[in-house]
Amino acid sequence: PYPLFAELRKTPVERQQDGSYVVSTYREIVALLHDPRVSSDPRDTPEPTMVGPAPGEETPELPPAFIRLNPPDHDRLRSVAMRHFGPPDAPGRITGMAPRMSEIITGLIDGFAGRTQADIVNDFAYPLPVTVICELLGVPREDDRHFHQWSRTIIEANDQTTGPLDERRRRRVAATAELSRYLQGLVDVHRRNPGDDLLSDLATDEEMPPGDLLSTAALLLVAGHETTVNLISNGVLLLLRHPHLLERLRGEPGLAAGLVEELLRYDPPVQALGTGRNVLADIDIAGTTIPKGAVVTLVLAAGSRDPDRFDDPDHFDPERTDNQHLGFGGGIHYCFGAPLARLETQLALTALARRLVNPRLVADPPPYRQHPFLRGPRHLFVEFDD
Ligand code: HEM
Repeated sequence: PYPLFAELRKTPVERQQDGSYVVSTYREIVALLHDPRVSSDPRDTPEPTMVGPAPGEETPELPPAFIRLNPPDHDRLRSVAMRHFGPPDAPGRITGMAPRMSEIITGLIDGFAGRTQADIVNDFAYPLPVTVICELLGVPREDDRHFHQWSRTIIEANDQTTGPLDERRRRRVAATAELSRYLQGLVDVHRRNPGDDLLSDLATDEEMPPGDLLSTAALLLVAGHETTVNLISNGVLLLLRHPHLLERLRGEPGLAAGLVEELLRYDPPVQALGTGRNVLADIDIAGTTIPKGAVVTLVLAAGSRDPDRFDDPDHFDPERTDNQHLGFGGGIHYCFGAPLARLETQLALTALARRLVNPRLVADPPPYRQHPFLRGPRHLFVEFDD
């Protein structure tokens, strides 16, 4: 998609035939991410957007989570959740999980023993974030499987290769309803018998309304693994294409932080924000007026390759300084899980680099998911020496 993004940037704010607008340059994306006239609430969208629930498809048990709310509701719920998750600059609960994350990673890599091939997506990049987010929230281990399925169904409703639209939508409604019923049961258990986990903390916080609690838990579960799986897989792919980086990472674990940051700029899992972003009043930007009511798609991945903002943007440089990429979005909805995603991916890539002997890609490029805004391989088969 990156050559296409270079084309897109020639018109920073472009009107589409359907009346929506695509924004692809760094400065304009940042301006709109910080503009209170741009709403994230799907209920402000006049037309159903490509992704997100269509009219009549909303699940009453699950009101919009804070990713789909505007201030003041967004700020209130995000800050209650943040209180228990840990703020980005002091993510105590997250850094405290590092040893446990390493254990989970080692366990998954041990599963490769006696084999000479693995699918990095299904055997590693998928189970890792699911296990971590379930443990963090206090979801029983034996229920991982269901989560994996529901979350996948909800996200894959946007993947055109997984079936006709009606069918995908029907599956998504069913999965959302099951997820919410399951979460309700779980919340009841945690309320009666709180443990040392995020869900117990949220369930016993008086400032968290019961309906919003379910939506928040569902958001953390889904956002918490469908994105990280792609960052890990995109990272493995990049390392296998650049063996000198793989070699360096083996001996220099300090490289991991810059490498993951550059990955978020260079080949990010969330390529665009296209869900329910719409303007509440006319906005003049880059010589264009985006009219009130229009839907806007912010192409984050194009902004992160904007040569007006980044030197030599198509070059992967793990030591890049001044790397304010858009991989985690920006403004009030800046990714809540960024510290978790960073840590998990740094540990995962370093461990794989160390443990895989002579790894080789089986197919390059690998098959990709067909998704309007998430980018990552569907499978990533790798051969290695035993
Ligand atoms: C928001 C990316 C991992 C939870 C966002 C946004 C992006 C993003 C681009 C902005 C969405 C918007 O403006 O509409 C990513 C990427 C990840 C990742 C690339 C992994 C590599 C996580 C994890 C969690 C998480 C692990 C959960 C623990 C959230 C939440 C929001 C969010 C709750 C909404 C924040 C708000 O509305 O205030 N993420 N994310 N994310 N992310 Fe992440």
